[in-house]
Amino acid sequence: MVGYKSKVVESISLPSRERRERALEEAGHNVFNLSSSDVFVDLLTDSGTGAMSEDQWAAMMAGDEAYAGSESFDRLASAVRDVMGFEHVVPTHQGRGAENVLYGSLLSEGDAVPNNTHFDTTRAHVANQGADPVDCPVSGAFDPDLEEPFKGNFSLERAREVVDEVGADRVPLVIQTITNNSAAGQPVSVENTRRVREFADEIDATFVIDACRFAENAAFVKRRDPAYEDRSIGEIAREQLGYADAVVMSGKKDAFVNVGGFVATDDPALYDRCKQRAILYEGFPTYGGMAGRDLAAMAVGLREAVDGSTVGERIASVREFGGLLAEAGVPVYRPIGGHAVYIDAGEALSHIPAEAFPGQALVCELYREGGVRGVELGSFAFPDTERPELVRLAVPRRTYHREHFEHVAETAGAALESPESVSGLEVATDPAVPELRHFTAELEPLA
Ligand SMILES: Cc1ncc(COP(=O)(O)O)c(C=O)c1O
Repeated sequence: MVGYKSKVVESISLPSRERRERALEEAGHNVFNLSSSDVFVDLLTDSGTGAMSEDQWAAMMAGDEAYAGSESFDRLASAVRDVMGFEHVVPTHQGRGAENVLYGSLLSEGDAVPNNTHFDTTRAHVANQGADPVDCPVSGAFDPDLEEPFKGNFSLERAREVVDEVGADRVPLVIQTITNNSAAGQPVSVENTRRVREFADEIDATFVIDACRFAENAAFVKRRDPAYEDRSIGEIAREQLGYADAVVMSGKKDAFVNVGGFVATDDPALYDRCKQRAILYEGFPTYGGMAGRDLAAMAVGLREAVDGSTVGERIASVREFGGLLAEAGVPVYRPIGGHAVYIDAGEALSHIPAEAFPGQALVCELYREGGVRGVELGSFAFPDTERPELVRLAVPRRTYHREHFEHVAETAGAALESPESVSGLEVATDPAVPELRHFTAELEPLA
């Protein structure tokens, strides 16, 4: 049995219903625009929102802020070598910085990029290079009721179709995202990763793993694949990541920090290209957009990620949270993912058509009812792609406890008590980059 006790606390309070109504209006019915002081339980994201350990805070005090040759960088490089197995690392300010550095070094106009499912910033970075991001989820990935162990897997069949359509020379990069955030946080099997490696070799493409939640993925592999039940999370992670040519990492997830990221690779030529691009966009390659103290905290966090207890406890608490929601009569995607519970808003608010964004309507209702902030990952966030109308309630690491989850479950149950009273929305202001619209667009309720 493992757990935590609190050493630092932050007070939170539920604003009045009147304040919540007004805040939602002022935010243009987009919860990204809310002030966090108006939010009671914040499940918008698990990205950079968790609590660091005492060892991470201690490491921060010893951060080396040298512009070049920082010792904190050496500690990070050594953690990346030990935990992930890569020789070279280019730090970046966060995951999307790593995406810019790596994908900008690999892609050209007219390329196509298969990925089990592109996360929103990944999709936008691939598109920003003039390339076509193509989702290759396995069949059933978007079926909220199908109980399968590895619904996050990459469909090789779909990727082969892409190669047939555009030609292998137009597919220089294949990405696998573990766990698959945009497909309900579902894990990817090591066997699937091995097969993606073979596919990338067949077409002579670079194989990149988006490793944001690599330790959580390894914990799922240990639980769900009998071939790995006796292997440690660290061993599984190293094997899985070892099939890739490079990884992009948002340290805000499985390196347990509030900010930071990196690209890591064993390929010296790719390392050199990334390093040059990083100097342009991020910073000198031994700090890359991060303070020395943040590099130091990330080095410790990476090692904590594979010690097994933190990710194991997290997966268990997310599953318990999913159980509370289900008991409150809320339809949830199954099996419960690693970092979040996903509500099936298409089922919960079946009277609202996709074009009136049932997921976003539910997000607004959760806030109105109980000051809970989640995020829509359906037709509002992903225009022009076919996927279920999901609402993600992401669980920040080492932050909330059972009473918070009970509050959220009660809130969701109450919000869905008379579903017909919830109305759909329309977009009032549409930002220029369609792949990023859910971050800033404003909406109006339909009459
Ligand atoms: C799978 C995946 N890739 C990339 C990113 C981008 O990382 P960041 O938010 O650190 O820029 C995220 C963030 O949530 C993610 O979940």
